[in-house]
Amino acid sequence: MKLIFLGPPGAGKGTLAAKAVEILHIPHISTGVVFRSAIAAKSPLGIKVKAIIDAGKLVDDETTIALVKERLAQDDVKTGYILDGFPRTIPQAEALADFSEADKVVNFDIPDSSVLERLGGRRVCRKCGHNFHVIFDSPKKEGLCDYCGGEVYVREDDKSGSIQKRLEVYRAQTAPLIDFYRNKGILVDVDARPAVDVVVENFKKAVGKG
Ligand code: AP5
Repeated sequence: MKLIFLGPPGAGKGTLAAKAVEILHIPHISTGVVFRSAIAAKSPLGIKVKAIIDAGKLVDDETTIALVKERLAQDDVKTGYILDGFPRTIPQAEALADFSEADKVVNFDIPDSSVLERLGGRRVCRKCGHNFHVIFDSPKKEGLCDYCGGEVYVREDDKSGSIQKRLEVYRAQTAPLIDFYRNKGILVDVDARPAVDVVVENFKKAVGKG
């Protein structure tokens, strides 16, 4: 199954993708994770995108499309994938249609108030990338990942000015993809407001695995 996860920053796409991988046994491809790994490695890509990402803006379409096209040419994604955070603009969606056609687009529906609460409390493992939350899912030992012992930190783009910017960018550039895919007849809505286990059940029903 070829899936696209759509939704505002902090909707829970990455958290749900980690669960969906266990259910569907397909790779999870997050452009945000790829960019953050490149930044951590101080690679040429990381150096190019760091300031853009920290400010909550989008990386240019050309760079992002080339990266996803290369990843989707690999053998492990021939029969399925979860694309999380791509496409994020209409030109990205049009480009994707030229090299891969998704079966379903899962739209994680959530109000801004919940986004602010989730991003304001998010903590991420620097080593394995697991998402924690200071209230909803806090690490057992403060500052340390339950799964790999890595350092748990606050993403630079989770600091308040960047969160507002990301919401503005989402509304202007990414939200139009909801109608784009609804008109193609492949969009399914998932209520992303409840607790993770409930969202997982909503997701399974939406993709016919419930
Ligand atoms: P990216 O990493 O994709 O960020 P995002 O889309 O803004 O999404 P987030 O990772 O912020 O949120 P999420 O929906 O995954 O939520 P999460 O599961 O963590 O992109 C980062 C940046 O890279 C972009 O701003 C841009 O600059 C660049 N970029 C990436 N793709 C690009 C593209 N295609 N084009 C151009 N630029 C691109 O959950 C959030 C928090 O809530 C966590 O703390 C979690 O524990 C908690 N939580 C999750 N679900 C629940 C729940 N059900 N109940 C309670 N708490 C929950």
